[in-house]
Amino acid sequence: MTIISPSILSADFANLERDIKLIENAGADWVHIDVMDGHFVPNITIGVPVVKSIRKITNLPLDVHLMIENPEKYVEPFAKAGADILTFHIEATDTPEILINKIKSFGCKVGVSIKPKTPPETILNILQYVDMVLVMTVEPGFGGQSFMNDCANKIPYIKDNSPETLIIQVDGGINSKTGQICKNLGATSLVAGSYIYNSKNIADAIKTLKE
Ligand code: DX5
Ligand code: ZN
Repeated sequence: MTIISPSILSADFANLERDIKLIENAGADWVHIDVMDGHFVPNITIGVPVVKSIRKITNLPLDVHLMIENPEKYVEPFAKAGADILTFHIEATDTPEILINKIKSFGCKVGVSIKPKTPPETILNILQYVDMVLVMTVEPGFGGQSFMNDCANKIPYIKDNSPETLIIQVDGGINSKTGQICKNLGATSLVAGSYIYNSKNIADAIKTLKE
């Protein structure tokens, strides 16, 4: 069964608890939290205090996508705030093995993400050490962008070079059609923000992505 991780970037931040309960009651598996620092990507979003507050209002695993420089520096604060999965960008670190071990030492699952222009070969030597690979299918920074087909074509290579237990997640422009394309290629987790939050029936949207 595909793991559905709705991105709260498309939620109403003035009603965040309501909008998280909404996806929780609609069958979401995880909560995808997009952390942006205005340096690694040209946008600023959520930080540690907000993750800490979210932890208090949901039991769903918190899937934290770090689009930040110096991810090493923020592992401990985000782990202590209640993150369950910490995904860093390979483009943001020179020492991925050290970072992976650090994330594990705080009891979190580890994800590694690649931007659209980053070839999957870049992460070949760490695939055996991570729990998840996040393939970006838009340039990270904003919700509501169009899915880039070429990026999804990295999925089979990742699948072929990974342990069977590796979760392959895609993020960016996911809807019923593009979600199906990714699943056919081997994705096992879908992130979706605008598709889920803009749909009239959130439960139906999540169910469609899951099936
Ligand atoms: C983009 C973020 C995504 C974003 C997806 O940088 O990583 O998680 O919220 O939004 P949609 O699903 O609208 O493309
Ligand atoms: Zn994301």
